[in-house]
Amino acid sequence: MTIQRIIRSAKRLQGEIKLPGDKSISHRALMLGGLCRGKVKIENLSPGQDVQSTLTCLRSLGVKVRQEGNVVKIEGHGLHGLQKSETILDAGNSGTTMRLLAGMLSGQSFETKITGDASLQKRDMKRIVEPLSQMGAKISSNQGFAPLWIHGGNLHGIEYTMPIASSQVKSSILLAGLFASGVTSVIEHAPTRDHTERMFRYLGIKLDGDKNRVTVPGGQEPQARDFSIPGDFSSAAFLIAAALLMKEAHLVIQDVGMNRTRTRFLDILAQMGGQIALKNERLENEEPRADLEIHHSDLKGIEVSGVDIPLLIDELPILAILASQAHGVTLIRDAKELRVKESDRIQATVTNLKAMGGNIEELPDGMRIEGPTRLDGASLRSFHDHRIIMAFAVAGLVASGETILEETEWADISFPGFFEMLGTLSHT
Ligand code: S3P
Repeated sequence: MTIQRIIRSAKRLQGEIKLPGDKSISHRALMLGGLCRGKVKIENLSPGQDVQSTLTCLRSLGVKVRQEGNVVKIEGHGLHGLQKSETILDAGNSGTTMRLLAGMLSGQSFETKITGDASLQKRDMKRIVEPLSQMGAKISSNQGFAPLWIHGGNLHGIEYTMPIASSQVKSSILLAGLFASGVTSVIEHAPTRDHTERMFRYLGIKLDGDKNRVTVPGGQEPQARDFSIPGDFSSAAFLIAAALLMKEAHLVIQDVGMNRTRTRFLDILAQMGGQIALKNERLENEEPRADLEIHHSDLKGIEVSGVDIPLLIDELPILAILASQAHGVTLIRDAKELRVKESDRIQATVTNLKAMGGNIEELPDGMRIEGPTRLDGASLRSFHDHRIIMAFAVAGLVASGETILEETEWADISFPGFFEMLGTLSHT
């Protein structure tokens, strides 16, 4: 069933909230938890559908999982304890599930078939098939797309220089590296999110490396340790944006993940004039977290490109909305990867923002936005993409009249309860 929602313009946004657990960290906690011997308790697991996809796949692979709300108790049988699945694994809409699991499955002595929804079947899997095949896995695919048939085998370590900046690719190779003989090294030209490396360390897996290289010796079993997952920074981004845009805003978001490979959005906002204070900064389970306090701010345009892009890749659609209300030109370049996410996020953002009267131009590798422009309520598509629908819910708050959003259930991929939370915080 699809859910249409109407967003009306608002002036005030006030409150103190906590957010669901980080999606990226939740996937990794489940997967690595499933490779431990013994019980692991995970608190504040993301309730999003993507993470449920990972959980269901792990169950099919013989990992015991007990879920009570956002607390999950997981019991694996060690590094070599996964069992052949009786059914085809379904990664749903989740690229992280498919790509990271493919790394783990490459090291198994059984065969697995994994597929996904219509969007995931259109996303490039060659980027992982290639390095995993170099390590000795036999993977058949539909010309580089899912479904994947993974015939695990005896893997050997490789040194792999990533042609694109992708944490999913890096993590897939590092997970396969746990099952490989010798050492596995990944070299990245631009830093990408490092949750896998941090979690390896937390679970006692030794890693070497310098700035752009990470190396893992094979055969290491993660040690069972409990996790508490911080609030999802990428989910926080929508609420941060809403608060910056509302004339009367005071929002506190407690306990948000503050990993530096995820938070470049905050640095960019500070340069644009955003007033965001960090409080209570701390480190838990190797991941930094903090409380954020946000006030309304007048913003100015900015240029974002190069090595900054992978560090705010998921925040670019909402940055475009902010840019439409900022003074001057915002230029987003070097962001071709946005075209191969859950939707073509450049096209989706440009189409919807234009429909609202935004001054935005599509570029092959980004967008040019000139602001501030008055946005008008419009009828907008979801593009079957959680980040697009949430970004345009925020745009609806600053637009005149009513914004009609179709298929808002797509927000549940990463942030169930988003619309209810936004409704409670914002006032006309
Ligand atoms: C993710 C990495 C990013 C991001 C995705 C989650 C992860 O993808 O867009 O939402 O958990 O590793 P890439 O690393 O492929 O850019």
